[in-house]
Amino acid sequence: RRHLISAADLSRDDATLILDTADELARVSDRSIKKLPTLRGRTVVNLFFEDSTRTRISFEAAAKRLSADVINFSAKGSSVSKGESLKDTALTLQAMGADAVVIRHSASGAPHRLANWVDGSVVNAGDGTHEHPTQALLDAFTMRRRLGTLEDRRVTIVGDVLHSRVARSNVLLLNTLGAQVTLVAPPTLLPVTVESWPCEVSYDLDAALPKSDVVMMLRVQSERMNAAYFPSAREYSRRYGLDRDRLARMPEDAIVMHPGPMNRGMEIAAEVADCARSTIVEQVANGVTIRMAVLYLLLGGETQ
Ligand code: CP
Repeated sequence: RRHLISAADLSRDDATLILDTADELARVSDRSIKKLPTLRGRTVVNLFFEDSTRTRISFEAAAKRLSADVINFSAKGSSVSKGESLKDTALTLQAMGADAVVIRHSASGAPHRLANWVDGSVVNAGDGTHEHPTQALLDAFTMRRRLGTLEDRRVTIVGDVLHSRVARSNVLLLNTLGAQVTLVAPPTLLPVTVESWPCEVSYDLDAALPKSDVVMMLRVQSERMNAAYFPSAREYSRRYGLDRDRLARMPEDAIVMHPGPMNRGMEIAAEVADCARSTIVEQVANGVTIRMAVLYLLLGGETQ
């Protein structure tokens, strides 16, 4: 039984296998084959305790394109509101025969715990401020398609690192794949553990931009923040927002990424989000392909 809980668990060979499988699945989709029979008779449960647009819908689309049966569970409207625990919820779903459980939860470590309670494969779709490994995989897939290779590519990740599971998963995976990562953030929005992360840290966005092949903007997670961390939206935008002038400081072939959802006008100007160098919509499409690859390898593909 295999799981995908942390980008830290992926070796370079594992990650490359997932990216190569996604490439192959994209080629099949390009030939107008929209549905594959690979996971017929398998059941994928999407267990979402936190809101999601992209991740939830793309896991559902990915499972359906592989012909799996899909059960969508959202904590809102379920017996969780009556106080039912994660364990009892998991055992209920287990009784319905889940081959894979995709979980998003506000508690860091929830997918790890779940893996002890269910027989199927567990896929982490974002746990608290810990990890979001399929986001990092779809980001790496997008970079590889745009830039050819990740080896020695310079990736600058900007913004609210403190609350970002996307940043942590990206730093870990990109390091595994040979890229050089720099985090740029105000000191109050960096975790105290950042010194042990395999990346550089800077407070100066304008200095980092000309040296970047990729600039990945992070959402300012106001809902997880208090005023002491984040004094003023205008000041944040002035120092750490990506606007047209800052875009002009980047190398001509460098790309702009954002995992979504965006705060347009805060961390990224609307005209930058929508420009030709932005891969934001492409990232969403690639998310379906990467999640197909992950489900295929966990449930139906060659073992590795
Ligand atoms: N990028 C991402 O995880 O988006 P959602 O929260 O909409 O799933």
